Amino acid sequence: MPDTLGLTRRQFLAGGAGIGISVLAVPVAAQQAAEATIPGQRILRLREGQAYLRGAEQAPTAIWGYDGAIPGPLIRGRRGERLDIRVINELQQPTAVHWHGLRIDNRMDGAAGLTQAPIPPGGRFDYSFVPPDAGTFWYHPHANTSEQLDRGLSGLLIIDEPVPVDVDRDVALAIDDWRLDDKGQIVGNFGNPMDAMHEGRLGAHLTVNGLPSADIPVKVNERLRLRLANVANSRIMVLRIGGLPVHVVAIDGQPCEAFLLDKGRVLLAPAARCDVMVDATGAPGSAVDITLEGYGQSQTIARIVHDKGEPARPKPREARPSLPANPLPATMDFRQAMRMEVPIEGGAMMMGGGGGAGHTHAMGRGIWQLAGKASDGHSGPPLFSVRRGTVVVLGFPNKTMFPHAMHLHGHHFRLLDNLDDGWKPYWLDTVLIGENRTARIAFIADNPGKWMIHCHMIEHQETGMAIWFEVT
Ligand code: C2O
Ligand code: CU
Repeated sequence: MPDTLGLTRRQFLAGGAGIGISVLAVPVAAQQAAEATIPGQRILRLREGQAYLRGAEQAPTAIWGYDGAIPGPLIRGRRGERLDIRVINELQQPTAVHWHGLRIDNRMDGAAGLTQAPIPPGGRFDYSFVPPDAGTFWYHPHANTSEQLDRGLSGLLIIDEPVPVDVDRDVALAIDDWRLDDKGQIVGNFGNPMDAMHEGRLGAHLTVNGLPSADIPVKVNERLRLRLANVANSRIMVLRIGGLPVHVVAIDGQPCEAFLLDKGRVLLAPAARCDVMVDATGAPGSAVDITLEGYGQSQTIARIVHDKGEPARPKPREARPSLPANPLPATMDFRQAMRMEVPIEGGAMMMGGGGGAGHTHAMGRGIWQLAGKASDGHSGPPLFSVRRGTVVVLGFPNKTMFPHAMHLHGHHFRLLDNLDDGWKPYWLDTVLIGENRTARIAFIADNPGKWMIHCHMIEHQETGMAIWFEVT
């Protein structure tokens, strides 16, 4: 039964995993138990820390982390079972924690200024929710996010299926980028207009689970479930898992019909997750590279390393990989749908007239516009308000020179075909929309409350690309 970030209990006890992953298997339960006031409540502290982002041989980097660690502790729950998490803010600035991709009670969504007051320095907030879906999710700040997320505040949140999935290994990789100076410290120019009006804050230093690379040990013919998560502020990630058959089994946490990847290539928008299953059919002792490409870089960030010893079984599993479905609607009735266009405008090299807000470019907060105006996603009236159960179809014509990663809170959505209301065979919570392209999404607004829609390139979100809507 897998119980840590990438380690089964057996491996953890045996200490048998590579450094990239074992460093995550630090139990914090004992200390927490003493302080919890609600039985089973977990304590999560935002604090300063140190991380060996450049490897153990180099000086550490000063970071902010949940429990002072990169990534934050793995939070693992089970579908349909309540999670209680007390967040204690030991930083010098207010925060809030968003449980990205979970379709939970609105009051627990963590959108500071919209669903809760920010947690002040020294303050705390008790989160309590029941995850309706099994899958790979993550948590991160939703206040001054460019700085807080970039300094290291993020962690993975895994909700287990009601019945264990038939795999030998379950490994999660939180992939991040960092802008470091020559002493290995985080460059503090957060939210500068050059980043904000272009592709957001990128960093040339890449990490997996807080280290420059990770080795994933497998035995020949084992089946590995690999949970890939892009936790970077703004980087679009192209991953390649070379040489082994890779099946995608879930996207953004939600199971999909399994499909074999072409050349093992996975595209991850900022905030996106992808669960793949890999049968370790390489030769004993061989290693398979996982490389990250994009922005003129190509780097091996992890390796799947086959054990030299006996295969786990004479042949790989024959059963096609799959995951049990989550309770999402099977159909949507488009006849009564609420349809709206939400043009994306602004940024550098803006085409045409933009959203009538071109003159605000220099003002920072107004670099980007959604639906004709720059907004912070909580001030002002909602973009729309619908009754619970309404089918909502949103079109996002991207009229800018940059791709954007539009994220919807509290709901998963379908990506619609270009010419009609047919949809792609998967669910998303974040959709990457290329420059000069239009994406249309559909969802049933079945979760009451106030929900944000924003670009998950955080520097875009914080300079205008955030709106909210209401489900009554
Ligand atoms: Cu992961 Cu509002 O975002
Ligand atoms: Cu964007």
